[in-house]
Amino acid sequence: MPTIKEILNTMEYGPAPESTKEAQAWLEQRGRQFGLFINNEWSEAGELFASINPADGAKLADLTQGSAADVDRAVAAARAAQPGWQALGGHGRAKVMYSIARLMQKHARLFAVLETLDNGKTIRETRDVDLPLVARHFYYHAGWAQLQAEEFSDYRAVGVIGQIVPWNFPLLMLAWKIAPALAAGNTVVFKPAEFTSLTAMLFADICVQAGVPAGVVNIITGDGRVGEAIVKHEGIDKLAFTGSTEVGRLIREASAGSGKKLSLELGGKSPFIVFEDADLDAAVEGLVDSIWFNQGQVCCAGSRLLVQESVQEKFLAKLRARMDKLTLGSPLDKSMDIGALVDPVQKQRIEGLVQSARDEGCTVYQPACELPANGSWFPPTLITGASTAAAVAQAEIFGPVLVAMSFRTPPEAVQLANNTVYGLAACVWTENISLALDVAPAIKAGVVWINTANQFDAACGFGGYRESGYGREGGREGMYEYLTAKAEDARPAAPVTEPKAKAKAAPVAAGGAFAIDRTAKLYIGGKQARPDGAYSRAIHGADGSFIAEVGEGNRKDIRNAVEAAHKATGWTKATAHNRAQVLYYIAENLAARGEEFAARIAAMTGSKNAEKEVQASIERLFYYAAWADKYDGLAHQPPMHGITVALNEPLGVIGIVCPNEAPLLGFISLVAPAIALGNRVVVVPSEAHPLSATDLYQVFDTSDLPAGVVNIITGSADELARTLATHSDIDAVWRHDGSAEGCAEVERLSAGSLKRTWVGGAKGRDWYSTAQAGGRAVLAHASQVKNIWIPYGV
Ligand code: NAI
Repeated sequence: MPTIKEILNTMEYGPAPESTKEAQAWLEQRGRQFGLFINNEWSEAGELFASINPADGAKLADLTQGSAADVDRAVAAARAAQPGWQALGGHGRAKVMYSIARLMQKHARLFAVLETLDNGKTIRETRDVDLPLVARHFYYHAGWAQLQAEEFSDYRAVGVIGQIVPWNFPLLMLAWKIAPALAAGNTVVFKPAEFTSLTAMLFADICVQAGVPAGVVNIITGDGRVGEAIVKHEGIDKLAFTGSTEVGRLIREASAGSGKKLSLELGGKSPFIVFEDADLDAAVEGLVDSIWFNQGQVCCAGSRLLVQESVQEKFLAKLRARMDKLTLGSPLDKSMDIGALVDPVQKQRIEGLVQSARDEGCTVYQPACELPANGSWFPPTLITGASTAAAVAQAEIFGPVLVAMSFRTPPEAVQLANNTVYGLAACVWTENISLALDVAPAIKAGVVWINTANQFDAACGFGGYRESGYGREGGREGMYEYLTAKAEDARPAAPVTEPKAKAKAAPVAAGGAFAIDRTAKLYIGGKQARPDGAYSRAIHGADGSFIAEVGEGNRKDIRNAVEAAHKATGWTKATAHNRAQVLYYIAENLAARGEEFAARIAAMTGSKNAEKEVQASIERLFYYAAWADKYDGLAHQPPMHGITVALNEPLGVIGIVCPNEAPLLGFISLVAPAIALGNRVVVVPSEAHPLSATDLYQVFDTSDLPAGVVNIITGSADELARTLATHSDIDAVWRHDGSAEGCAEVERLSAGSLKRTWVGGAKGRDWYSTAQAGGRAVLAHASQVKNIWIPYGV
């Protein structure tokens, strides 16, 4: 008699194909041809392109290539529908969204099969992962619609949202985009990826059945040209994009200066770290879910294995053995682990990258598996021996290809993990919770999974650091992406201008009479520094008289300031309590010299409110000192045995260009929230009235503010903002000096390294108003959320 183990080891898998009958019948019923879904009506099919089953190359249906005119019509429908959708109220919207969720569950099997046919991913995944998460997303966000008036009372819907998604999770990405947008009272113009639009077509039917009012959801199929038309459409208030970093950059550039809100969920090269004390068998299974889930076509795929040297050989042996057992074949077969790639073009790209590794002498391991004759397939692949700089170690391969490296110590693991331009996700495997929770905050990634991988839930925000994009999907933070603070509507149309300094003098060489006394230097690394160019500029008072000179900062000065800011890492590691203490201390020292500061403001600007401005600045310092240890994260309870901890982490180094009005209060209102949360800053104070900032040097020096936390470079706002926006070591740039062109330029230039931006545009801001210059909206600009998943159990 064979033992059970022997039976299990010798059992052959029999095919267990899922029926496509219902999905094929639905396609037939639709004539295998689709128009566009605008205003709850289907347009006649237009210029057509085929949707292909990547597993066998068979044509499934024809779709319409939308045009700019179609986007126009869709935006008009969405605009017309938005007030009514908003007016339906939270409960009204919640009911409709609940109905969508119910219908998605009811038709889950049809959706899952259609998704598998269209995308090539296995039915196991569409049935067990994609569809449950889609339904959950609508349920969860129906809840936010219900609670909106209570939980987001200071916010309103943004308006009309343009949404563009990729092909790797066609329906799930649709849900991630559409659910929060609708919950918040927005209407949408949605574009699926050209390879995979069929489930979006079916979703349109569901919207009608669920009672979504006409114009609330509009779906335009087509390629990147439709995306471009959406991006540049003036009737759209916010863009939400998921896809390649390359296209994300284009979208950032194209929408710069348009005033559109923007969230980008882009590529990744996520590390999967295995420490020597990890449960190695569990880690192997985690890796299977991490890099072979959806054929590795996952933005947060754990594509870089970092394994501790002491267990490297053992772990790789286990991994290769597991790879040998992975099943690859018809995605409709319920016993398959790996399905087809979405398109031959992806296969070519992956092949090219793997070949580059072979050419460089790497070892490429692929289990002997037979690839189906038709369609796009690629075997699970393990690459060892690659250098950290190799293309396969740096580029997003977006396929079932894992690159393995080793490390010796935890700091080395962190350093390797962060050796990428991306920052989407990371996995940490160890049985030592102290080690895991020490490493997780050190990794620059928006999601960290401890002893688990590729977990998602509607309650937990998802999104990247660095070039993996910005904005979050899911959770409370995801809702803010689709809301606008009502205080923004109250902003004055233009900055409230103080009487201008008479002549804006050309830079003069420093060194004239009295120049030594009256030239304020720059402030870099806690020290006053002469400007690199040895030039200064004259600052005149409201009455035209000369007051003083300030240094004319240049590119090199910014570089030095950024270096100093990067060195001040102790500030980020300091406790929030300590940061608050320093802010209080600055306030105290400013108060001690209040009269002097008021006199300076009055001399520069002619303001009659100078004392009031100083008092407001002191209060603002107290305000952000108070916030420093209260802008807490959250502990989410997703449907798993464990918690997800959402931490508000600082961005790093922020470049700030301050407003001209309220030169002290404007400066403090921007610098205080940034440093309260642990960022370091390089600040360009008011170009016209910079002396309130240069007078602060001594205040800082006597307030225990560590060197390098605040660096101040005076000079031309335009020139210095440009330098900040193009500097590769700055994480975010804020510009609030009322220059519309300047703000547009900052947004455009930020695309290079995908910096976060916060710009005021041409509008003014009442810096005295806490609603306009304070609150969670400002703190959100100074931070990014990291979700750390911590399952329980042994
Ligand atoms: P893509 O970024 O070109 O496409 C994503 C979406 O953007 C599609 O709907 C597409 O039609 C649209 N699009 C294309 N050009 C556009 C433009 N100029 N303006 C507006 N929308 C535009 O991604 P693609 O070409 O499908 O895949 C290429 C590579 O991108 C993949 O190999 C992978 O490395 C990466 N990728 C990353 C994804 C992620 O989730 N992070 C998803 C898809 C692709």
